[in-house]
Amino acid sequence: MITVRVPAKVNVQLGVGGLRADGFHDLANVFFAVALGDEVTASAAGPGEGVTLTCSGPDAAVVPLDDSNLAARAARLLAARHGIADPDVRLHIDKAIPVAGGMAGGSADGAAALVACDALWQLDTPAATLLELAAELGSDVPFALLGGVALGRGRGEILDPLPVTGTFHWVFAVADGGLSTPAVFRECDRLREEAGTGSRDTDVPTPDADPGLLAALADGDAVALAGALANDLQSAALSLRPSLAATLRAGTEAGALGALVSGSGPTCAFLAKDAEAAAAVAEALRASGTCRTAHATYGPVPGARVQP
Ligand code: C5P
Repeated sequence: MITVRVPAKVNVQLGVGGLRADGFHDLANVFFAVALGDEVTASAAGPGEGVTLTCSGPDAAVVPLDDSNLAARAARLLAARHGIADPDVRLHIDKAIPVAGGMAGGSADGAAALVACDALWQLDTPAATLLELAAELGSDVPFALLGGVALGRGRGEILDPLPVTGTFHWVFAVADGGLSTPAVFRECDRLREEAGTGSRDTDVPTPDADPGLLAALADGDAVALAGALANDLQSAALSLRPSLAATLRAGTEAGALGALVSGSGPTCAFLAKDAEAAAAVAEALRASGTCRTAHATYGPVPGARVQP
């Protein structure tokens, strides 16, 4: 039995370019891994049992346990790469990452399942191959393997680790219900068309990482990072879910240094001065009535790792 712990992510910068012919958008995506995470356990199954999936945690009921689940797809993809046609494995997800929340929870489970099955089946897959399989599963899956802080280019799958000093303290306000990532990208395109700027990759310049934001990370400067937080999907998420404006305001009024929608939302992320301030912001958010719950956490932390 192998248990893998895997982090959620927040995008401290999410620069979104125009819509490509393949349906994706080129990104300047600064991923940041936080300690709020899931655990995926892989255990041996009898011959012919196939890939089975169970889930625990407060939101287990809304996790899809069919073949759309990235953990199951990851197990099959890894097996296929090693010439195993019908793999047998029991996968259990202990879920803490908000579901459909803009924190790459499904992607995290896919990455964790790759690592867990690789260890259970003693495959010793090279890291580069795992990253390749991860990119096949989804744009955010490679980063969940890597963790830390990294710049994602292309659709987010071309990763370069970034230097960072110290620990940053975060609060995540979890909304009722999720948002569909493709729907938020479509809304971003629609808003760009409405504004007259166009939405294709021929209309929108390819985004770049913000040098000020990279310096803030390297310097461990939370105030500077808070001032540089930027998410090009935020207006689209707010357009689809206007109530998020009140969530962002509540966290800021409670003393957060900075606030933004996490990825495609609807989870909202708040950067705090220290652990004590983060606990106070989380408490105020829970009392505000503007979110379902709020978690204080920290980062960066490593990517998907087998637990001792
Ligand atoms: O890669 P992944 O399957 O997670 O992407 C889900 C959807 O999000 C894509 O089908 C696409 O609609 C949108 N997306 C995008 N540009 C990206 C990443 C995702 O438009 N860079």
